[in-house]
Amino acid sequence: MTQVELRRENGVGFIEIDSPPVNALGVAVRAGILECLEQALADPSLHAIVLTGTGRHFSAGADIREFDAPPAAPHLPDVVHALEVSEKPVIAAINGTALGGGLEIAMGCHYRVAASTAKLGLPEVQLGLLPGAAGTQRLPRLVGTSIALDLMLSGRPTAADKARECGLVDATSEPDELWQTAASFAEKHAGVPVSRLRDLSVEDPGDAAFDRRRQSIESRSRGLKAPEMIIRCVEASTRMRYEDGCRFERDAFLACKASPQSAGLRHAFFAEREAAKVPGLTGSRETSGPRPIERIGIIGAGTMGAGIAYASLLAGFDVRLVDNQNDGLRRGRKTIEGYFEHAIRRGKLSDAAAGEGLTRLAASTDYDILADTELVIEAVFESMAVKQDVFRRLNERCKPGAILATNTSTLDIDQIAAVIGRPEDVVGLHFFSPAHIMRLLEIVRGQATANDVVLTCLSLARSLGKISVVVGNCFGFVGNRMLYSYGRENQMMLLEGAAPETIDRALEDWGMAMGPNAVGDLAGLDVGYKIRRERMDLPDDPRYYRVADMLAEQGRFGQKTGRGIYLYEEGSRTPRPDPELASMIRSEANRLGVDQREISNDEIVERCIFGLITEGAQILAEGIVQRASDIDVIWTNGYGFPRHRGGPMFYADQLGMKEVLARVEELADRFGSDYWRPPELLRELARTDRRFADVRP
Ligand code: 3HC
Repeated sequence: MTQVELRRENGVGFIEIDSPPVNALGVAVRAGILECLEQALADPSLHAIVLTGTGRHFSAGADIREFDAPPAAPHLPDVVHALEVSEKPVIAAINGTALGGGLEIAMGCHYRVAASTAKLGLPEVQLGLLPGAAGTQRLPRLVGTSIALDLMLSGRPTAADKARECGLVDATSEPDELWQTAASFAEKHAGVPVSRLRDLSVEDPGDAAFDRRRQSIESRSRGLKAPEMIIRCVEASTRMRYEDGCRFERDAFLACKASPQSAGLRHAFFAEREAAKVPGLTGSRETSGPRPIERIGIIGAGTMGAGIAYASLLAGFDVRLVDNQNDGLRRGRKTIEGYFEHAIRRGKLSDAAAGEGLTRLAASTDYDILADTELVIEAVFESMAVKQDVFRRLNERCKPGAILATNTSTLDIDQIAAVIGRPEDVVGLHFFSPAHIMRLLEIVRGQATANDVVLTCLSLARSLGKISVVVGNCFGFVGNRMLYSYGRENQMMLLEGAAPETIDRALEDWGMAMGPNAVGDLAGLDVGYKIRRERMDLPDDPRYYRVADMLAEQGRFGQKTGRGIYLYEEGSRTPRPDPELASMIRSEANRLGVDQREISNDEIVERCIFGLITEGAQILAEGIVQRASDIDVIWTNGYGFPRHRGGPMFYADQLGMKEVLARVEELADRFGSDYWRPPELLRELARTDRRFADVRP
């Protein structure tokens, strides 16, 4: 199939990229562009050339799937160069998304016109890369170093009107007039000497300006190398000849592409898209489609309920909020209004849109307002008895076919579903707090959950802008079950004498967004304490979560009480080490016969991360997830696992199964096999030289 075609119309050659789904610039597309360009240049009847894409995309950039193989000719920089040196004017007609290499080919063209709906950007940094087809050299020449750095360091796309304002495009037009606008541009510039970005100079803002950029990215980059490389390339654009700058950029690009950081980020990119595919469900003709949803009911107007309500209103749903207390409802409504006000202040929402959103919110203490809802999400207190009671009431008031979802983070979905007569309508929707900000959603399939219920939840997740992962039912599902193994090691090391701030710093330096002790205080130590009280399956080990339990028993719940593992000053969320904590833990350790000792940063990281990997292996073996990368999506999006390491399972795959097994066996030798017995799956993979990624439960 031809992926690029040349059409001739009134003396203009239209080169059209037609390579669904996103017009990525794979080798065939690159070769196709060059071939069409040559034909257009050789055709005396054509006096100008327009480069455009079909569908919603101009081009989403380089074909990322090719990055694991050696680069194949023709290379993208050569294609961009060929467009630029054309003697006939080349106009990019940007019909939709122009990202990465897609924007770089547009910058190789002599002029750019964009549909008003188009989005333009250089998101390479999000893949641990930098623009590698002279984008770092051309963009500063086009819009100046400051805007160029904004675009490349954030990786965020910009809208067509903003692109017009900063000079990234020369004109915008209504989408259905784009070709006409491009053709008029071509007409106007035919026979006029073309202007090439490479011939422009760039103003050097000076060392101080670049240093300020370095400082501003330092805390945000979390050890990522690409942002610094981007700054260096832009520096080069101001200080080197164009050709030398391009060579500098090429070397930097290839180094980034070969880095483990980029491999991890690319894995994360594809893993998120893969997660939306559920074998036997999505794309299957046998399953009926999703159930239509217009009205969503939410039970519980606390932080979680209010966050879900706000996200649902933003997505255009009608929301019925129910709480058993009028006070609770008032607080919930206030929280939601606060979210809208915040969005208005940040320019994300107009007054009118916020006002309209709030008209779709109804609140009551009476379950009767749920009668016409198609989906209800319960977000009440984490207790089986309370949740079962809510479900009994929902069963009475909700219409047949309404989906009844629980936002439990740990409890057994089947046990909740068992108290009503329609378990096929019951599903877990595990949102993460704050629910309107956190992008992750675990969709928990109970034993009886109907296929179309899961499909509806997948579609709901898309509407809410969430990344969803379908998981099976077990204690804590995937994320929280693994958190228990990770947290167990943190807790053990506290007892063994490691200071909380040492543990947190070691894991943060490794790339975790926040150390486990700071997270514990943020979430509230009472939450985990209550959950452990309800659990019947905990190990018979007095050391297990002993420090957390001891603090919770003293009323030290974390940030909300001003003291937990750390201390907090009034109104502050900054953790301060508690000078008395070490002696409290020491006496507890003595009581339990635990010897205290110096624990190295390497050991801290090893025990916590391998705790995750072994539990992840078990989850994979039990078929709780469909694939190892689903676990990675959960941990990178819900628990602050460094995205540039891909996720715990990808990290393990990179180490290799034999190495992972050897290290788990070493941990078992040192700390006993109660917690460190290598899962059978791990042994099997090591024996057969396979990876977690190869496992399909
Ligand atoms: N290469 C290969 N495949 C890509 C791709 C790319 N650049 N961009 C998207 N895809 C694939 C996705 O994996 C998905 O495949 P699947 O259907 O098999 O799962 C399919 O295209 C559709 O993608 P989405 O589900 O993401 O579709 P959306 O409509 O939601 O989003 C998009 C479209 C905004 C273009 C989004 O896909 C995206 O952000 N893509 C990545 C863009 C990017 O990072 N470009 C830079 C690439 S690096 C580069 O250009 C280097 C250069 O400087 C040298």
